[in-house]
Amino acid sequence: MKRRGLLLGGAGALAAAGGAAWLWKPEDRGAPHDAYFAALNDLLKREGPGRPVMVLDLDRMNANVDRLAAAVGPDRTYRVVVKSLPSLPLLRHVMARARTDALMVFHQPFLNAVSAAFPHSDALLGKPMPVAAARSYFAALPAENAAAAGNVQWLIDTRSRLEAYQALARGLGVRLRVNLEIDVGLHRGGFPGPAAIEPVLDVIAADPAHLTLSGLMGYEPHLTGLGASLEHPAVQDVLARYRGFVERIRARGIDPAGLTLNGAGSHTLGIYRGDATMNDLSAGSGVVKPTDFDTHHLAAHEPAVFIGAPVLKRYDALRVPGDPWFADALAWWDPNLRRLHFIYGGYWKARYVSPRGIPEPLYHSTNQEPFTTSTSVDLAVGDYAFLRPTQSERVMLQFGDLLVVRDGKIVDRWDVLQEGGPAEA
Ligand SMILES: Cc1ncc(COP(=O)(O)O)c(C=O)c1O
Repeated sequence: MKRRGLLLGGAGALAAAGGAAWLWKPEDRGAPHDAYFAALNDLLKREGPGRPVMVLDLDRMNANVDRLAAAVGPDRTYRVVVKSLPSLPLLRHVMARARTDALMVFHQPFLNAVSAAFPHSDALLGKPMPVAAARSYFAALPAENAAAAGNVQWLIDTRSRLEAYQALARGLGVRLRVNLEIDVGLHRGGFPGPAAIEPVLDVIAADPAHLTLSGLMGYEPHLTGLGASLEHPAVQDVLARYRGFVERIRARGIDPAGLTLNGAGSHTLGIYRGDATMNDLSAGSGVVKPTDFDTHHLAAHEPAVFIGAPVLKRYDALRVPGDPWFADALAWWDPNLRRLHFIYGGYWKARYVSPRGIPEPLYHSTNQEPFTTSTSVDLAVGDYAFLRPTQSERVMLQFGDLLVVRDGKIVDRWDVLQEGGPAEA
């Protein structure tokens, strides 16, 4: 009796486990390209170069720029983040549309490119560069662009870096504009509190021929994910810290209104509509909205950048290298594994967006990456699969010219910046 009960109990448990597993059985999540991606697919098959490309949707981008510019408003400066939009024609377009000539730069070769292309733009460094990078910048700057160097704001995070820059300025016989990196809660470096900038202000004040204070930069991406508004305590904490630095500068007789008081990024820019602490707000990625930017304050923005990758091969069955015994069982279990494709390229920092329902690939390859779908997807060899980059910086540099698309047509081709510059010293 006991034994029978045990057996029955065991069978019941097995049935329950089987039932639970059934609940876990994946559904068919596949769906073909919608009208938007079907049109892009047709366009790339007709006019694309037959290799992976990066596509920019001009209308979506314009709408995103307008949203950012509106959030910054007329009384503050919208500063365009170069690393997130690393193409001179793209930057030119965004600057013209947003009516700004302020840029934030993170890479010496990009700074040289910006100084050559937009000599009148105000270029704030987004990170404190080794003094050798500043020296390389001056060495690579053509004489006809020399004046552009006067529009650069060098980011300084310590007194010793300031002194190294001061020595460079003396050697070159130039005056450097100095913007102080301040820590408003991110703890990624910068001056930790108002008292810490005093000695640095002393050094600047004592050498007006070579140094001038141009502003403050306090970045606060740790507010991302809070869905925060201005009243949120974490936002108020950032602003209180920021004001502490501003007051310290004011107390030294410097009018902060004449300085660049920079902060924010795409994730957080929308918070500050009703606050005047910062007069200069940065954003880049929000213009094209990669997947990492599917965040609260960018909810109204539309994705405007896609990778299109040609399908090279298609099989109507799952094929796993070496034909392990479980390959058929896998495809039986998960309907999203029933068609196998290989694309041209792969393993980018990106996620499939169309066709729908593509699970994690069986393995990664930068040469020919596999992806699987259910039988609800019917892509032919030569069709394109589309991915959204997770970030725009770096990924945008991997495809050559950006294809600018509007109304089913390629309307422009924009070259991208070169990561490696000449190694001047
Ligand atoms: C100092 C600084 N400001 C602003 C940004 C914002 O750039 P994005 O709008 O592309 O996120 C960044 C991004 O890393 C940054 O480091």
